[in-house]
Amino acid sequence: MRGVFVTGTGTEVGKSVVAAAIANTLSTAGRKVTVFKPAVTGLDDPGEADHALLRRAAGSSQSDAEIAPYRYRPPASPHLAAEMAGEMIEPERLRTAAAEAAAGGDVLVCEGVGGLLVPLASRVRTPMSDKVDQPYLVRDLALDLGLPLVIAASPGLGTINHTLLTIEAARSAGLEVVAVVLTPWPDQPSQIEESNRDTIASLGEVDVKTLPHLNLEDPTSWPSLPLGL
Ligand SMILES: Nc1ncnc2c1ncn2[C@@H]1O[C@H](COP(=O)(O)OP(=O)(O)OP(=O)(O)O)[C@@H](O)[C@H]1O
Ligand SMILES: [Mg+2]
Repeated sequence: MRGVFVTGTGTEVGKSVVAAAIANTLSTAGRKVTVFKPAVTGLDDPGEADHALLRRAAGSSQSDAEIAPYRYRPPASPHLAAEMAGEMIEPERLRTAAAEAAAGGDVLVCEGVGGLLVPLASRVRTPMSDKVDQPYLVRDLALDLGLPLVIAASPGLGTINHTLLTIEAARSAGLEVVAVVLTPWPDQPSQIEESNRDTIASLGEVDVKTLPHLNLEDPTSWPSLPLGL
């Protein structure tokens, strides 16, 4: 599978915006981009749902179900939102749906849910491995899909710790980190923000990019976010 898995240091840190910017960059360069989001929660919340923004940015014609096989109204962790709906998120269904999404284009942009250690399912039986009755985390899905990571993070105070923890959780599991993207990056960054960018790059030994504030309504106005994908 060719593409990227966009995770973040947590919820509401800009994963969707970063994933959309990557999808738009690839699509503008002439690639056929498809998108995937394992589970969308909070459909009751106002504003555009993640799968709709990703589809628009990619110029994709995938259906809601093709992009996001599990969609829930409460703004809860995916495993809880599924439980409230009387079901369980099945890793095999996620892997199959992601593979189908990837097969529809030449590069897949996948957005995670929350951060890397968020459970998609709290207990999964995996008889073929020694991980019996383990939770299935967002990180497990990134590994199963074999995609490298991009980490969305805030530019401001607190981001060094959150970002370095996420890099460590990724690398300790064998995931490749392509880049960290700080978003939204201010037009006139403060000394703290500049220092955060440089500190994450040097302590995390990682490429750090920045994404300015975007007009989400108009992808044609977005700057390119090239990551060598
Ligand atoms: N570069 C940017 N330009 C415009 N808005 C941004 C930018 N970066 C972040 N935001 C805003 O920050 C908020 C959170 O961003 P986003 O929805 O991408 O986060 P998320 O990590 O995908 O959240 P969730 O965990 O709910 O999926 C949104 O209101 C979004 O519009
Ligand atoms: Mg999102």
